[in-house]
Amino acid sequence: MNSREHILSRLSRASAPVSGDKLAQELSISRAAVWKHIHALRQQGADIQSHSGQGYQLCSEIFNATTLSSALADMHHPPRTMGKHILHFESLDSSNREAMRQAESDCPEGTVIIANQQTQGRGRLGRVWHTLDYALALSIVLRPKLAPESVPQLSLLTAVALQQGLSPYCKDIQIKWPNDLLIHGKKVAGILTEMRAEPGLVHAVIVGIGINLQNPKSHWPKDITQATTALQNHSKTTLTRLDCASAILKSMDDWYHTYLQEGFAPVRQAWWQAHAASGQKVRVHDGQGYIEGIAQDLDTDGALLLATKDGVQRIIAGELELLEHV
Ligand code: BTN
Repeated sequence: MNSREHILSRLSRASAPVSGDKLAQELSISRAAVWKHIHALRQQGADIQSHSGQGYQLCSEIFNATTLSSALADMHHPPRTMGKHILHFESLDSSNREAMRQAESDCPEGTVIIANQQTQGRGRLGRVWHTLDYALALSIVLRPKLAPESVPQLSLLTAVALQQGLSPYCKDIQIKWPNDLLIHGKKVAGILTEMRAEPGLVHAVIVGIGINLQNPKSHWPKDITQATTALQNHSKTTLTRLDCASAILKSMDDWYHTYLQEGFAPVRQAWWQAHAASGQKVRVHDGQGYIEGIAQDLDTDGALLLATKDGVQRIIAGELELLEHV
């Protein structure tokens, strides 16, 4: 990181003004050199204010690869995998598509793609995903040594990592099978996992994460049929994309390494505890019709085991409704 990037990331993480002396000391440069960098950053569009006797303060968040890398480095565990390489785009068709392009060009494992906007954001079951104002849209490239049939476990792992990583901002986040994140029954985040594989061999897994951080400025798009909410509506802290992205990447990093070392069992246990419908009456639409039953367990491949009047059924894919929310 060069001096200008250091100043930007330092100011973007500080909650109070940082003095020119302090920045000069940290970088072993003169105060005049600090001032030149501040001037150049302002010319590039950074809203940096000077408070006399106190120092410089960044007045709007800067969310990019530099600030996210330094936020991750600041957390006491520097990333082992997630976020060692970060690419930021103002606008993309879909961060999952870009992640797949990067994977095909041999990017390192753990590469993170962030998009401020997506023109063709994609959701599960072929749906459109709207990247609303001040939303978080990111995708991660993984290259686990897994059989293709185990890859759904990574979606469940991601749901657990999001639920736990975002818990400092909201304690009420729950998972809805397979990997929606809900607050009080309303969807706040979704996960789309895709892979490039051949029989028996996974080349790359793309984990795409979309989180509604704030309500849209006008209204929620009309084609969203599911009840939806924004994380900020349920958090006492003012959320920033930087804080949320670094929290979930750190949590992903921890869970991914637990999974590689200990297998699926700890993920499955944490998932079941965080699942809104564990042991509850649910209705699942499996693409052909509705099946009702009690959510009894999660199979090792991520299938939901549903106790129905005709016995236990394995549901591999579909849309689950909690009957108390119907
Ligand atoms: C769903 O709940 O249907 C999954 C939504 C996944 C959306 C994210 S946003 C980042 C990444 N890029 C995409 O095009 N989709 C995922």
